[in-house]
Amino acid sequence: MLICLWQAVFGLFYVAVWASALAPDLPNNGDDDTPPTTRIIDVLSDNANFSKLLLSLQRSDLVDYVNGLENITFLAPLNSAFDPDQLYVRLDQESVLRYFIDKPVDSALVRGLELYYTLFLEDSVLKDGVQSPILLDNRDDLFLADNSIVVSEDHAGSVNSVVLGISSFLEPHVSLCEFFQSVEEADPVFEEYQTLATLFASNDFCSSHKLTNMTVLLPSDEALNLNEIELAYLNTEFGLQDKNALLSSFVLPQIIGGRLSPPVKTRNLHKRKVQVSSNGEGSYIVVDGTNSSFSNYLLSDGIVHLYDSVIFDDARPVFTPRKYLLGLNLESSVNEVDFRKLSDLIDDPELNQTIFVLPTTELAESKNTLLYHFSSEKLDLKESKLVDSKYCSNSVLGHCQKLKIITHGDQVLINHNVLVTSQKIEVGNTNIYFIDDNLSLPLPFETAVSPFLRCAKSLQFLKDFDFLHFKSNDGLGYTIFLPNADAWDTLDLVLDYLSENPETLREVIGNMIVNGLIYDDFEGQKTVTTILGEELILRRDGDIFINDTQAEISLELEVLFDKGVGHPIKTVVFPSSVQIGVQELLTTVDSEEFLKVLSLIGLDKLVNQGYSFIIPTSKSLQLGNFTVDRGSVQKLADFAKLHVLPPGSIQKMIDCEDTIPTMLDSANLTCRELTSGVSMLSIQGGNDHEVRLLRKGLSIDGSAGIVFVDRAIDPSWLDSSNGPIHLHLPFVAGLVGVIIGMFVLAAITSCCLVFSVGKQSSSSPTARSETTPLLQPHASLESHSQQPKSQSNDQFATYYSTHSSSQPINVEPSS
Ligand SMILES: *[C@@H]1O[C@H](CO)[C@@H](O)[C@H](O)[C@H]1NC(C)=O
Ligand SMILES: *[C@@H]1O[C@H](CO)[C@@H](O)[C@H](O)[C@H]1NC(C)=O
Ligand SMILES: *[C@@H]1O[C@H](CO)[C@@H](O)[C@H](O)[C@H]1NC(C)=O
Ligand SMILES: *[C@@H]1O[C@H](CO)[C@@H](O)[C@H](O)[C@H]1NC(C)=O
Ligand SMILES: *[C@@H]1O[C@H](CO)[C@@H](O)[C@H](O)[C@H]1NC(C)=O
Ligand SMILES: *[C@@H]1O[C@H](CO)[C@@H](O)[C@H](O)[C@H]1NC(C)=O
Ligand SMILES: *[C@@H]1O[C@H](CO)[C@@H](O)[C@H](O)[C@H]1NC(C)=O
Ligand SMILES: *[C@@H]1O[C@H](CO)[C@@H](O)[C@H](O)[C@H]1NC(C)=O
Ligand SMILES: *[C@@H]1O[C@H](CO)[C@@H](O)[C@H](O)[C@H]1NC(C)=O
Repeated sequence: MLICLWQAVFGLFYVAVWASALAPDLPNNGDDDTPPTTRIIDVLSDNANFSKLLLSLQRSDLVDYVNGLENITFLAPLNSAFDPDQLYVRLDQESVLRYFIDKPVDSALVRGLELYYTLFLEDSVLKDGVQSPILLDNRDDLFLADNSIVVSEDHAGSVNSVVLGISSFLEPHVSLCEFFQSVEEADPVFEEYQTLATLFASNDFCSSHKLTNMTVLLPSDEALNLNEIELAYLNTEFGLQDKNALLSSFVLPQIIGGRLSPPVKTRNLHKRKVQVSSNGEGSYIVVDGTNSSFSNYLLSDGIVHLYDSVIFDDARPVFTPRKYLLGLNLESSVNEVDFRKLSDLIDDPELNQTIFVLPTTELAESKNTLLYHFSSEKLDLKESKLVDSKYCSNSVLGHCQKLKIITHGDQVLINHNVLVTSQKIEVGNTNIYFIDDNLSLPLPFETAVSPFLRCAKSLQFLKDFDFLHFKSNDGLGYTIFLPNADAWDTLDLVLDYLSENPETLREVIGNMIVNGLIYDDFEGQKTVTTILGEELILRRDGDIFINDTQAEISLELEVLFDKGVGHPIKTVVFPSSVQIGVQELLTTVDSEEFLKVLSLIGLDKLVNQGYSFIIPTSKSLQLGNFTVDRGSVQKLADFAKLHVLPPGSIQKMIDCEDTIPTMLDSANLTCRELTSGVSMLSIQGGNDHEVRLLRKGLSIDGSAGIVFVDRAIDPSWLDSSNGPIHLHLPFVAGLVGVIIGMFVLAAITSCCLVFSVGKQSSSSPTARSETTPLLQPHASLESHSQQPKSQSNDQFATYYSTHSSSQPINVEPSS
């Protein structure tokens, strides 16, 4: 049964072979006159439509050559391909070769788009040349050879060749290298595929890699996503290796195009395995599963396919900060980093960091300076903050030095003086910014404190007590609280006391220097020690509380110096060991005479009992006869009580309130503040005599204090009738006065009319202005026996607060 079937099949096969032997030119068997053996020239001669071609071959002396060819396909231009006016064209053998495919092609067997090779050798790169490819396209109704329509098919049986009549000449193709050299002018289809194509053109990739007989898979610019810096890097000598690797990834070492069955397994020039297949009868070339967006762009020694993705995930070079710096043309910066043996910093794209670079690069002063240009955070510079640099010394400041970033709108300043001049340049986890000046390392404290912070006095004290030699404190670093000028000025007499008691001042100053680093971003609570060994409790509650003294610290003002950080503050922080009370404050002013009066009437014990005192100058006591040897006890008692403020009163005095109770029951004081800021005291409801508040001092707990005034408040001022302005007269007396006044006025007016020449009256002696001295020198009291203590001269100028804007009053007799 099986044998029978086989015999039947064999029989059929035999018949078929025999039949085909009888009629060898089956496609042309419509014409029975065709000779059984023909050569190509015979085919051309037989068809009038090839007359121009035949004439061209004859005139170009190529007939013998063509006649000698076997086993080929001739793409023969028909007469219609020629210019109508032209009888023939002169051909050279080389260009004619492009019209010969290296094997006979039966058009009926061409399926879809197929790649063939011509006899033309493209030898621009390889001396032996590469057979130019050609695509035959049988996908639609038309049969195309490259760009030409194939109109007829004839077989030259005796040389096993085929003649395909084509309607136009074939378009010449450029080579791969030529194509990339002028890719900008190439077909519009390449418009979005320029990046890699341009890289192919540069740096001799073409010749060094013998870019011929190959397939190029071009990813789109968008997919490749190389920015200007990366491109610039790839085009430097340092980027050559990366560039070659990148380009090699997209090159396959043979010409692959058209319908591929089976799929082609090969390796790209970067040695990676690649599988290439096709779909749509060769319309699309699929590489490792990625569909092309445009394919089969034919060149004379290669083919190009376009892709909208980077087909190989390892193709893009790994960019590092180093490569970016090179791309930014900062080769010398890179050299410097290498020279300082810090290459690790720019070779690891994973490192979270920020690099600040200068556009022009000079050698940094030191490794530390260089490190100071690196921050260990990846910074967006969107907000002001303090950040760590990579300059981390293990000497005194056992920490990493900080960089102060201050943002004002779009402007970013580092350490107050260096401007960031570029947008963020991001590579891996590193951000790079350009800056306009070197970042200099934090300076020694004295130099680091800007004069604008008005901390000269604090600095002077620190210097005086030799606190500026910061010794190593186990790498803790130092924090210095630095009272500014206002802080010291408000202390007034307390500062005088401190100046006279350097030991106490030293304690105050020393306890504001803390071991350890407290920056403005400090949170929570922490106990630290001062350099004098005291403990300080720091607490953040909105502001910072330094042992319960409220202080404001800010990023803007904090001072970074080589061994720590300084904070200008608006208050002086007193250590608990320093107690300055009324007793101590009394030593700072000329209070001897006053204290004698106090002790005479037994009020001296109040000094330690929360009472505050108004101290007039000794001279004014003598002038007003309020001294022990001149005044009566009753007068002195009233006087003294008027100058003693019960607990609580001193704050009213400082605040310059309307009612300030005194020890004298019948009298309250009142205070008014001049526009110049000077406070004037008078007796409430008394006459208008006023004394001027010259200095003040509050005990450290603020509960008591003393004020120093320019003259004694005379209890007689209580009697308002005694005053220069107020007249409290009975109503009738007033009425009488008014009537008399009217008469007098009338009299004066008539006098004035009579004499008509008026004399300007001199200004009233009672119209006292702020600038008129309140206390006139008194010739009878020139005794200099009572020198004010601790004052080198007895001018009141020296008692004036440095903060006062009013002129001191000269109580010296005019000489
Ligand atoms: C020559 O071309 C014409 C028009 O294309 C066609 O009609 C004719 O059949 C062709 N002749 C031969 C011999 O093929
Ligand atoms: C043409 O092909 C035949 C058989 O396929 C072969 O014998 C012959 O040598 C070939 N001729 C040339 C010139 O290659
Ligand atoms: C071109 O590539 C093909 C396929 O790899 C190879 O067979 C041929 O020898 C190559 N031609 C030249 C001139 O190298
Ligand atoms: C490949 O992409 C083309 C368009 O670019 C599309 O027409 C075709 O269907 C795609 N083929 C496959 C298999 O995705
Ligand atoms: C960088 O920062 C990210 C996010 O802050 C973190 O997840 C990552 O671990 C850091 N990388 C390194 C190397 O520290
Ligand atoms: C940066 O520092 C270097 C070395 O100290 C110096 O030569 C250079 O002038 C500085 N550059 C700028 C912009 O200040
Ligand atoms: C701060 O307060 C603590 C606890 O009240 C005290 O022990 C310490 O001496 C104070 N420090 C200074 C410098 O006064
Ligand atoms: C002070 O006393 C002297 C005599 O003791 C007297 O002459 C003088 O007027 C008195 N001054 C005042 C302001 O009371
Ligand atoms: C002083 O002020 C207190 C409190 O305001 C008030 O009670 C008292 O009557 C005043 N004394 C005089 C004499 O005005």
